[in-house]
Amino acid sequence: MLIERYEIADHFDLAEHVVLYAGDCLDLLRSVPNASVQLVVTSPPYNIGKQYERRLELDVYLRQQAQVIAECVRILAPQGSICWQVGNYVHKGAIVPLDAVLYPVFSQLGLKMRNRIIWHFEHGLHCGRRFSGRYETIVWFTRSDQYVFNLDAVRVPQKYPGKKHFKGPKVGQYSCHPLGKNPGDVWIIPNVKSNHVEKTDHPCQFPVELVERLVLALSNEGDWVLDPFVGTGTTIIAAIRHGRRGAGAELVPAYVEIARQRIGQQLQGTLRTRPMYRPVYDPTQAGKRLTVAPWQKRQGEMPLLDNDSATSDGRCQ
Ligand SMILES: C[S@@+](CC[C@H](N)C(=O)[O-])C[C@H]1O[C@@H](n2cnc3c(N)ncnc32)[C@H](O)[C@@H]1O
Repeated sequence: MLIERYEIADHFDLAEHVVLYAGDCLDLLRSVPNASVQLVVTSPPYNIGKQYERRLELDVYLRQQAQVIAECVRILAPQGSICWQVGNYVHKGAIVPLDAVLYPVFSQLGLKMRNRIIWHFEHGLHCGRRFSGRYETIVWFTRSDQYVFNLDAVRVPQKYPGKKHFKGPKVGQYSCHPLGKNPGDVWIIPNVKSNHVEKTDHPCQFPVELVERLVLALSNEGDWVLDPFVGTGTTIIAAIRHGRRGAGAELVPAYVEIARQRIGQQLQGTLRTRPMYRPVYDPTQAGKRLTVAPWQKRQGEMPLLDNDSATSDGRCQ
């Protein structure tokens, strides 16, 4: 959606549409009125020593997070949602799943968990002494039992859309939902690594399409969507793309500048992002030769997988 007429405000005001606060998130949050934000989406620092964070003792980190979460709950609308996207805190090779240790913070503030979404991706660090981490989670909480959930806005294609009831009163009718199926709680979306179209100098952006699904499902047009740790502006971009209002805070000036540029491009309709629902790239299906290791290519072995020795219609010479 193109909304060129909006400026990027640097302080929160309910009359604005796009707010990028250059500073500490607690300062932004304290300027937001009670119960005015429909959706909070964020990926906070994980306390793992990235260049934008000072590594803290876990209990100090959790106390800081609790302060931010309490402010997010204060500003949350009665039908609103909070989505906290986290991975693991790692200390001397031992991992602590941050969603598990943050769960009590949310539940003590009276929130109810609706989903623990697994975000699966293919790329990341290769571990030598444990299995490489290939998922993170998004924990979704609501303030009450009456919450916005626009399932039809985020349905995905059925696996067998032509399947019909084979017995009973609906025999012969299509058995699946005509608008597609519920996307489930395991989301396979590529993470933003070096050759991703959205990659900037920030070390850990989340992809716009991940936030778009949350924005479409958990808010309505005109609602406020806020990210206390907005980084490169991803949450604001996903919000304004779908006619919501977007606000966020970022402490590091270089990332504020990247966010400002990306949000400006989104407002002008020129920001390039990976489209929602594009299937994950599969090198085997794309016919890439490197899917067969050279040391496995002995003469006569696996000829059907080797494009070098295949004719254009796939038969071997
Ligand atoms: C995991 S990154 C978020 C990246 C973001 N999701 C994106 O797509 O670009 C966390 C961000 O929080 C920022 N940050 C850390 N402490 C902050 C604070 N107290 N207030 C505002 N931003 C903070 C960091 O500089 C970092 O950019």
